[in-house]
Amino acid sequence: MLQIRVKPGIEDRIRGFFPWVYRAEIASYSRKPKKGELVVVRDFGGKFLGYGYINPEVSIAVRILSFDKTKPVTPDLIKERIKQAYEYRKKLYINSNAYRLVHSEGDLLPGLIVDVYGEYAVLELTTYGMSQFKDVIVESLVEILNPKGIYEKLNTTAEKVEGLKVKEGPLYGSVPDEVVIWEHDLKFLINIPEGQKTGFFLDQRNARRFVRSLVEPGDSCLDVFTHTGGFALNMKKMGAGRVVAVDISQLALEVGKENEKLNGLSGIEWVCANAFDFLKELDKKGEKFDVVVIDPPSFAKNRHSVPNALRGYKELCVRGLKLTKPGGYMAIFSCSFHITEQHLLEVLTSASYDVKRQVRVIAKTFQDKDHPWILQMPNTLYLKGIWVEVV
Ligand SMILES: C[S@@+](CC[C@H](N)C(=O)[O-])C[C@H]1O[C@@H](n2cnc3c(N)ncnc32)[C@H](O)[C@@H]1O
Repeated sequence: MLQIRVKPGIEDRIRGFFPWVYRAEIASYSRKPKKGELVVVRDFGGKFLGYGYINPEVSIAVRILSFDKTKPVTPDLIKERIKQAYEYRKKLYINSNAYRLVHSEGDLLPGLIVDVYGEYAVLELTTYGMSQFKDVIVESLVEILNPKGIYEKLNTTAEKVEGLKVKEGPLYGSVPDEVVIWEHDLKFLINIPEGQKTGFFLDQRNARRFVRSLVEPGDSCLDVFTHTGGFALNMKKMGAGRVVAVDISQLALEVGKENEKLNGLSGIEWVCANAFDFLKELDKKGEKFDVVVIDPPSFAKNRHSVPNALRGYKELCVRGLKLTKPGGYMAIFSCSFHITEQHLLEVLTSASYDVKRQVRVIAKTFQDKDHPWILQMPNTLYLKGIWVEVV
């Protein structure tokens, strides 16, 4: 098997269970590496650090799957990890038939995402190395879940960065275009082939439940970046009066309208617009809401885009705070690991000075527990939200 040695000083981080080796950190190769092949990682002196796979063409060249000398990466190890991921999910009380079964590094399976939507599973490979195990992954999912179908979705970042070629479509059985799942007491239509990500933002499940505790019957609520109505439907379900849901994707809003009907709800105002422009308009009109939720897409795909992203978050916070009634609530989320909780708090503080409102933090939420993160790998904590009362 290919062997690599890392530069002096890198070994401590790897021994601390950080599973990435950057290309610039590799001191030597036992021979010319091939894209996707398995590799033994050693320290500069030759001591074992871990087993993983390599893509010499990308910056994160090696992803380690095993830090145990007695457990090399084999199809059986992949199977065992998927089984462990499933056993963990079985113990969770998530109150839904849709969940993330495999969360990449969070399940010690870097490069693999599997989401389950009722009787169907959706697979997303994010690295070339993990794509080498596609057959055994599908075999395991069939064994564990006995699903009606498994669908593979393309991850555009993996295509661009890792050169991973994926033809979207079923890998096993058949998968209908639309699947209805349930979360708490709501139903959601999932459009697997056309939807964003694998079809639904499962990671916000706990936040969608939390918003219920803030909504009083008759409240006016604003769901910014609603996608298919995630927060808006929960607000309406709690008896909110006016609910405005805005997103730039007409397709997502059409699904949102279907979701509203599916749940016997009515009256949500679905608005297709750029959220930044729409919030400005609402503010100009002097509109106010009891509960405002702002859940934007990732603005910071890498660390270079952080300053620009922070300007975007600041603008959203200023607008959101202005649109919140005294005594009302606002939430702001970031789903980029480059934007930390501290960043969000700083942006919020700065926005509160601008709008001259006192703000009380009432809660923080993170990606739900079927998206576990590795303490030693901060990169795996990507979704955080700050909930405030605008005094
Ligand atoms: C993280 S998702 C929101 C998930 C949603 N809150 C839920 O619970 O399902 C972000 C959404 O922002 C939308 N979006 C992206 N850019 C936008 C923009 N400039 N204005 C409005 N919506 C936008 C995307 O279409 C996507 O639906």
